[in-house]
Order: sequence, then C-alpha cells, then structure tokens
Amino acid sequence: MPESLSVTDNRTGRTYDLPIENGAVHATAFQQMKLDDEDHGLLLYDPAFLNTASCTSRITFIDGDRGILLYRGYPIEQLAEHSNFLETAYLLIHGELPNAAEYAAWEHEITIHTLVHENVKSFMDGFHHDAHPMGMLLSTVGALSTFYPDATKIYDEEQRRISIYRLIAKMPTLAAFAFRHSRGLPYNYPDNDLSYSGNFLSMMFKMVEPRYQAVPEIEHALDVLFILHADHEQNCSTNAMRAVGSSHPDPYSATAAAIAALYGPLHGGANEAVIRMIERIGSVDKIPEFVAGVKAGKERLMGFGHRVYKNYDPRAKVIKRMADQVLAVTGTSPLLDVARELEKVALEDEYFVSRKLYPNVDFYSGFIYQALGIPVEMFPVLFAIPRAAGWLSQWEESLLDKEQKIARPRQVYLGASSRDFVSMNEREVQRPTIVAAG
Ligand code: SDX
Repeated sequence: MPESLSVTDNRTGRTYDLPIENGAVHATAFQQMKLDDEDHGLLLYDPAFLNTASCTSRITFIDGDRGILLYRGYPIEQLAEHSNFLETAYLLIHGELPNAAEYAAWEHEITIHTLVHENVKSFMDGFHHDAHPMGMLLSTVGALSTFYPDATKIYDEEQRRISIYRLIAKMPTLAAFAFRHSRGLPYNYPDNDLSYSGNFLSMMFKMVEPRYQAVPEIEHALDVLFILHADHEQNCSTNAMRAVGSSHPDPYSATAAAIAALYGPLHGGANEAVIRMIERIGSVDKIPEFVAGVKAGKERLMGFGHRVYKNYDPRAKVIKRMADQVLAVTGTSPLLDVARELEKVALEDEYFVSRKLYPNVDFYSGFIYQALGIPVEMFPVLFAIPRAAGWLSQWEESLLDKEQKIARPRQVYLGASSRDFVSMNEREVQRPTIVAAG
C-alpha cells in the first residue's frame, strides 16, 4: 500500500500524488495546485494549528485519546515516581537519563549558576508592590539577556550550554525574588547545599533562621510537580519559544516570550484561575448554579479541557493523588472538597462528556501549591520554573533542525483589493464615526 495521498483538483481535473511521511503530508506540496501560472498555489488554512505540525520532535510524545505522556520515551508516571526534576531536565535537554558522573556534573553546573547579578535586585525593586509575579518574571528573564551578550552566539555550543545552565538555575531565584518583593521582605540568596526544589523553598520562605529546612514531604511534592510541568510538546508557550527562537535572538529573550504566552489564563495562568474559580463557587451547594453558567457559555470551567487530551490528563491523575498526600501533612482544604465534587459533577454531565472535557494539569495543582504556602498569584510562576527546561530543549532542537527556518506563516487575505487614496474632503461619511478614545 503506497504511503501517499492522491488529490484531484476539481477546478482543473489534475490529480496529484503526495507522499505521506510519519503520518503527515508536506503543506508545500499543495503549492503546485494552481489554476494558472499567475496562481500562487493552494494554501492550507488552519487557525490555531488544530491539525498542523510545525516541526518534527523527539522530546515529548502525547497520545491524547489514551492519556499517554512520555518524556524522551519515559512515561511521566514513572519519572514522577522514580526521578527528580534536575534529572528529568537533563533527560529533556540531552535525550537520555544521566549516569552518576553526568548527573553530578549537571547538578554542579546548575547549582553554581543560581545567583543573579546584583543589579537584578534594583531592577526588581522598580516594580510596584502589587506587580503580578509573572510580569516580574517575564521582564527580569528578558533583562538577563543584557547581562550575557555572548548568549546571542546561539550556534556556539558552549554558549548554548551555559545559557541553558543559567536559565534553569536562575528561574527559581528570580521567582523567589518576585515573591519576596511582593511581600516587602529581603531577598534570600540561594543555598547551594539544598536540592533544586529545597533551595527554591528556602529562597521563598527563609526568614531569620540560620538555615531554612523544608518539610521533606513538601520538598518532594514540589519536585514532582516540577517534573510534571517540565515539557508538553508543542503547547502555546513552546510554540512561542520556537517561533521567537527562529529569528535567532538569545535564549533569554525567547524564554521571556514563552513566559508571556504561559501567562495567559487559557494556558499556564489556568492554575491561578482554578483557585479563584473555586473560591468564587465557595461551597458544594453552589456547584449546580456555577455549572449552569458554564453550560450557558457565561464562563469556562478552568482546569478542564485540553487541545490534545480528550481523556484524563495523566499529570492530573498524579497531582490528584499527590494532593491527598500533601494535605494529609499540611491539613485538608475545604476548597479541595468543592473541587472534587465539581469534577464529579462535570464528569457525569453530558455537556462536558460530549466535548471530552476532563481535568487537566491545572485543576488540582493549585491546591498543592496553596498547601505549600505558595500565594495564588505565584502559581503560573511555578509552572514557568520547570517549563524552562522543556522550552530550552525544544529551542535547541529547533535550532539544530535542518528543516527549520524563520517562522513566517501565510494568511488567507479577505481584505479590500487595491484602491486609490481619497483626500479628506472627498471622503463621504460612509461608516459610523470612530470616536477617539478619550
Ligand atoms: C495548559 O497545550 C498544552 O499542552 C497546554 C498544557 C501544557 O502543559 O503546556 O497542557 C497546559 O495550558 C492546560 C490547559 C489549561 N487551561 C484551562 O484549563 C482553561 C480552560 N480550558 C479551555 O479554555 C480549553 O479547554 C483549552 C484552551 C485548554 C483548549 O481549548 P481548545 O482545544 O481550543 O478547545 P475549544 O476552545 O475549541 O473548546 C471546544 C469546545 C467549545 O464548546 P463549543 O464551542 O463546541 O460549544 O469545548 C468547550 C468550548 O466552549 N470548552 C469548554 C472548556 N474548554 C473547552 N467549556 C467549558 N469549560 C472549559 N474548560
């Protein structure tokens, strides 16, 4: 059976045989389908890339119907059970799990790059006291590019390596600085004797004690959450990382663009939106009224639904189990009871079932962050910290992919055809006056 597609253009009667490779056809193969020599050929129209692959990749595999998520072939459930975030970050970036020497060297490089230039503190101090920490993270990560001008040498492997070390190492530091700024607290410097997640908790919560020691269960829970959030193939923010990266800026600028994409409530901002939604519902008896509003199109059930998963997000299953473990240590949350009941109601309601809307990674993660003492506005920031490893692995893969070039999509133009300029006094008032914003 030939791996090909036969397409007949009924406008001309011509038939074309297009090769199918890896379950895909090259969109450029449709450019040959023309009415005449003036014609530029057929375009493929796919707003929001519902069915368009922008790249080949060997990093993360998702089977949305079967709820499967693999990082470099390893099931997310096994990595959550047996690995730690730094080891998983190594796997994403390098493609293989590290041996002991490789892991030790990787951990050393990340650890010695956790400090940021002292000027970052005065940059951070410039934000208003109630600045959203995602806005602060986005800005300070972009500002890092001004401290490392050599990072623009993206085809110098050594420069790529050190930029990757610096970004993975400094994201927790910048995140913690943003939190401390919002509370008017002094910045805590990294403690290089702690684990990646333990150091983040120390920079967040250390007060005047000589050394912060996280509760082991909490440190472990955070590390597992970091593993679960580390990559997710071509999601919105990874698409931003690749698209911006394709014009060859430094990786700090590309990462700032990815953070901006993640900030949106439909993406990484959803974990914050879930908690605010559950707080607004308030109690189990208010769920029917809320669900009716969702079904009437008044709002979305945040933390539900996914472009790829049309089954339960495998990460949500792990997080839901973890929520029970963490809250057993920190004390349960009445809001979690509301969330559980809301999930039950939604999974039994035709509106959600027919649209294949299941809990995604954001539905339960916020309850764990809250139990860890993380404020709601920091939740998207905790998504961004581990996702930097995924963004960087995807960025480097794209840079080294010979098929890739600067991202520049086409469009289907439906606007005005060519027309001559009309001077002001000849223009009739043919449309409602546009009132200047005032
Ligand atoms: C993340 O892409 C990734 O991999 C992202 C991510 C990652 O790790 O990077 O997994 C992280 O972003 C998870 C998603 C977090 N966002 C939310 O929880 C926000 C709520 N969910 C949605 O807005 C929505 O489900 C999306 C954005 C996640 C996916 O949207 P799609 O695929 O574009 O689906 P759609 O908007 O076309 O919706 C299809 C239908 C619509 O109904 P109809 O127009 O057919 O009547 O489902 C409805 C939507 O109205 N719908 C929802 C809904 N999500 C979709 N209705 C109510 N509540 C929802 N949450």
